[in-house]
Amino acid sequence: MGNKAVINADVGQGTINKNIYGHFAEHLGRCIYEGIWVGEDSSIPNTNGIRKDVVEALKNIKIPVLRWPGGCFADEYHWKDGIGPRENRKRMVNTHWGGVIENNHFGTHEFMMLCDMLETEPYICGNVGSGTVQEMSEWVEYMTFDGESPMANLRKENGKDEPWPLKYFGVGNENWGCGGNMRPQYYADLYRRFQTYVRNYGDNKIYRIAGGPNVDDYNWTEVLMREAANMMDGLSLHYYTMPGEFWTGKGSATNFPEAEWDITLQRAYHIKELIEKHSTIMDKYDPEKRVGLIIDEWGAWYDVEEGTNPGFLYQQNTIRDALVAGISLNIFNDHNDRVQMTNIAQTINVLQAMILTDKEKMILTPTYHVFEMYKVHQDAEKLALAIQTDVKKVDDKDLPQITASASRAKDGTINITLCNVDKDKETDLEIDLRGVDVQNVSGRVLTANELDAHNTFDNPDNVKPVEFTDFQVNGTVLTVKLPSKSVTAISVK
Ligand code: AHR
Repeated sequence: MGNKAVINADVGQGTINKNIYGHFAEHLGRCIYEGIWVGEDSSIPNTNGIRKDVVEALKNIKIPVLRWPGGCFADEYHWKDGIGPRENRKRMVNTHWGGVIENNHFGTHEFMMLCDMLETEPYICGNVGSGTVQEMSEWVEYMTFDGESPMANLRKENGKDEPWPLKYFGVGNENWGCGGNMRPQYYADLYRRFQTYVRNYGDNKIYRIAGGPNVDDYNWTEVLMREAANMMDGLSLHYYTMPGEFWTGKGSATNFPEAEWDITLQRAYHIKELIEKHSTIMDKYDPEKRVGLIIDEWGAWYDVEEGTNPGFLYQQNTIRDALVAGISLNIFNDHNDRVQMTNIAQTINVLQAMILTDKEKMILTPTYHVFEMYKVHQDAEKLALAIQTDVKKVDDKDLPQITASASRAKDGTINITLCNVDKDKETDLEIDLRGVDVQNVSGRVLTANELDAHNTFDNPDNVKPVEFTDFQVNGTVLTVKLPSKSVTAISVK
């Protein structure tokens, strides 16, 4: 069967929320410390302790929103330990992640400073598992209250007169697991209680995100929506892609057997089914789709790199991960009616990272390049797209050869992103752009020869996008030749 797509340029299907391109940075391994925070005295060039090279690289992918401080860490984090003079801050053990000392040098002020530098919205995840209602409530007061109050005064004592605008607040993380091992009914009640004290001060209106299900725990979604939908703005969902199994061996990030290519990409594609099934339950309680599905942890999770701390979750990142990202983002765009934010795990040196660092060195991963190529979809109008493509069965589940997404930017440019998941075969795709006088076409493609091609500190540009020229135009039809294992971004002006 030939591959064909039809894009109806006249049929807009709503805005693709830019927050779909969000990120997540936890106090885990070398994400915050080393990856972002090096301290003011470091020989690594920094602005007030934050790495300059990393900020510059992240600004280039336009991070719209950044989730912090966890993850599992969030439900053990006590925010007051991370304010005031750094030399006086409490040292604690990061029990989840390697049992290392957390010196709390990166706290609320430092995180807000990072968000300012990146021009990104902060998304704070509060502590339900081991925290109190008072602690959560005071954190919000500390950050957002403008006026005379114990927490606002404390903030001023710590050098910040004006409150920070804070929109996104998560009430706990994975409360079915590391966030307290709760049952859904119990968490639903706690959620109702905690969120009551997450106050809107002045004009600061908080978008409250309830801790949602793990993977296909549909009962969790059912209970949370039934019991608390009217008190939340978003419900989270966590899903990680791994070729193996969580406890018995996830598989290697590089050096993997060929058979793991399709399995990994099929498992990435599986997020479509999860979104659709959770959305169906949400529709029952929220037919207007007011509550967003917030996929605030997703990405590829492999075994850690040999010789690294198993609690640090450090993994390499290959062209396969570029496809995990490309497939996932195409699916998220396509579900823009319900998916309002996603946060890939995690920004630097952890899991499916954008950036890897080694002391003063920094490299951009293939996943970084996908985020850079796809940034054109942020806040663009999704366009109706229908695709006919070969579908493979992998473990009895579907894996289409090509996935795609199209949107129209504010300046009228039509942007199309395409993934060819086939590891061996290039393929032609005929795209009928109905309603468009196809004139000015340009594109970039990210591909590689090896299945596990990746960037290293010695060879940082091994995988990077290059100009895409393999296309022909005939009237409204654009025919492209997509290389095997590739992510392509095309602009039609
Ligand atoms: O991203 C790593 C961990 O995965 C997070 O801390 C936790 O929420 C999830 O289980």
